[in-house]
Amino acid sequence: MDEFSYRDGTLWCEQTELREVAEKFGTPTYVYSAATLVDHYVRFAKAFESINPLICFSAKALSNVHLLRLLAGQGAGIDTVSGGELHRALVAGVDPERIVLAGVGKSVDELRAAVRHDIRCINVESEAEVELLARVAREEDRRPRLAIRVNPDIAPDMRTPARTTTAIRGAKFGVDIERAAALFRAASTDEFLRAEGFHVHIGSPIFDPGVYATALDRILALTAGLEADGHSVTTLNVGGGFPAEYTEGSAPGWDDFAEAICPRLQGFVDRGGQVVFEPGRTIAANAGILLATVRYRKRAGDRELVVIDAGMTHIVRAAMYDSYHFMWPVTPVNGTVPRSRDQQSIDDLVDYDVVGPICESSDYLAKGRALPAMVSGDLIAIFSAGAYGMTMTSNYNSQLRPAEVLVRGGRADLIRRRETYDDLVALELLDGLTPPL
Ligand code: LLP
Repeated sequence: MDEFSYRDGTLWCEQTELREVAEKFGTPTYVYSAATLVDHYVRFAKAFESINPLICFSAKALSNVHLLRLLAGQGAGIDTVSGGELHRALVAGVDPERIVLAGVGKSVDELRAAVRHDIRCINVESEAEVELLARVAREEDRRPRLAIRVNPDIAPDMRTPARTTTAIRGAKFGVDIERAAALFRAASTDEFLRAEGFHVHIGSPIFDPGVYATALDRILALTAGLEADGHSVTTLNVGGGFPAEYTEGSAPGWDDFAEAICPRLQGFVDRGGQVVFEPGRTIAANAGILLATVRYRKRAGDRELVVIDAGMTHIVRAAMYDSYHFMWPVTPVNGTVPRSRDQQSIDDLVDYDVVGPICESSDYLAKGRALPAMVSGDLIAIFSAGAYGMTMTSNYNSQLRPAEVLVRGGRADLIRRRETYDDLVALELLDGLTPPL
């Protein structure tokens, strides 16, 4: 599953002891396993190889330029959702031919950057955006390639949180499916636009492969209608949303998704069509952990608390979505290493509320979690933090964003330094401490 494992009573990432990483770089620190990231990408690609897709890793999940470069070196493209992510992909040296840009509210500057770099595809989300893109294309004298993001009106199953469901009627994303063909036709008549196909992203995470099948059937019906009119549809972007195992065995495998998706798209691919995927979480979540330190133990009423140096500003998913992240001390007392990432059945565990240092009542990482006894100074690992971990950090309470470290075998390299107090105020001290008039 991944390269984080307990050996000799302590946690390792590949051949690197996490104790040593913490000693060298401090905490809180995100630690990524290069071997895991690459392995997940390669195995995802293998599952879908029969339809030869362009796999654009979703930078919103994990956007460190070194990691984008690592994935691009394996053949990945990058899915971006802002000018900032596009910039990251370009700095990472990703070929614009392998970059796509989505986003419901792209600015004129973001569209212009995408047009100038002639990226592989701009996923447009409204009639108004098509008009604006056409104007920008004319001004730049370029012919950008676009796909229309469709809202297929599909409710995923109950396990997809409402807050990350994107394709039900009335959602802000994409164009209602009934208007998509008309918009495609309109875009096709503009001499400055190349309307190539459709994009769909149903939500995140999606546990039922059948949901992709339903969405694709709707998109393929749309495509067939247009092809019957003589239009050619050459790109179908299936989006992301493939799950990660936050607990072992909790999600279907990539082959299960491939089984639902590939046969439906084979005809399209045989006619020369290009399939695009935008996986984020499924590749990155289990390729990273957040390493933190226990600051205090305390009692609150009848509850046992551990206060750690990572809170909702360093990893927000538990506070924001009630997400489960397995966590465990790096070097547990009495060698109580976990048997799996969700078992709580070892004797002598303590039910802890794990909280951060932030001044918000929602700043919890776990409530009533059975963990080995911990004392101040102990290291704790928060697992499955590689996706939507670092990318969702903030400076609330003037907290410093964590460092990021990349492990390759027995080697650990800093790939983003920890922020400093000077970083916090640098953008405000425009003219020393003189207030503007
Ligand atoms: N493509 C589009 C158009 C998306 O909106 C997303 C995610 C993806 C691809 C990648 O989805 P993935 O493969 O990673 O599931 N912050 C939330 C997740 C928000 C997802 C937003 N869109 C979380 O921490 O769970």
